[in-house]
Amino acid sequence: MNFTIIRFDSLDSTNTEAARQAKLGADEGLCVIACQQTAGRGRHGRTWVSEKDSGLYFSIVLRPKLDMRSLSLVTLMTGIAVFDTLKELGIKPDIKWVNDVLVGDKKISGILAETVETPTGLAVIVGIGVNLTSRNFPAEIVETVTSIEAETSKQIKANGLAETLTQYLGYFYRMLENGNGPAEIVHLWRQRSTYFSGKQVRVTLDGEIVEGITDGLEENGALRVKIADGSVKIIQAGDVERLRPNS
Ligand code: BTN
Repeated sequence: MNFTIIRFDSLDSTNTEAARQAKLGADEGLCVIACQQTAGRGRHGRTWVSEKDSGLYFSIVLRPKLDMRSLSLVTLMTGIAVFDTLKELGIKPDIKWVNDVLVGDKKISGILAETVETPTGLAVIVGIGVNLTSRNFPAEIVETVTSIEAETSKQIKANGLAETLTQYLGYFYRMLENGNGPAEIVHLWRQRSTYFSGKQVRVTLDGEIVEGITDGLEENGALRVKIADGSVKIIQAGDVERLRPNS
């Protein structure tokens, strides 16, 4: 995959701009970066706080040759790439299914994958937010989030981080598209996430709540949760919350 990076001082959302570019025919590998976002989006309609130069706000256009039921794998693959990028900085992250990169229990990065119809087929826009500094976090989230600066005392620039991230994204994306890619990605994710199995969780989606113990991933990236009666629920989407500290 060839990467082309376009940079903006300010955007509403890099995902919105990347989707616009994809509709105009952008090739796979087009990356959009902004110094700030005025309407940064998280999952489930949440806001992604995107103060100027306080984070990496990055979106990439992908045109995966995957069955759309395997879209979770694109998010998992991205989580692996973010994990390895942060590890290079000396951080020890964790990944919470499906898209949260944490340090301890605090979120350092989030991933938002969205699909968009384009004249040349369905594209996937993968948006990645990485917190560079904690200085501009609003009071409501300050306890639940962290940043590269808080974890390492290093002041990392968004552009340098994007360089490393795109290298890893290219590597793991090629892996995902190979014959055995989905199984390999699940395997790599397992090595990086304490949420893979044995974690007591509550999953919420559209008001439905499932509580149980994580029991690995399906080949398409869905999360398996074993519930009290011994049966396994397959979670394709939803918010995962850890139930017991230290579990
Ligand atoms: C989440 O954890 O809920 C996902 C957060 C994704 C945030 C990134 S920042 C770059 C891109 N543009 C957006 O509007 N959102 C994503």
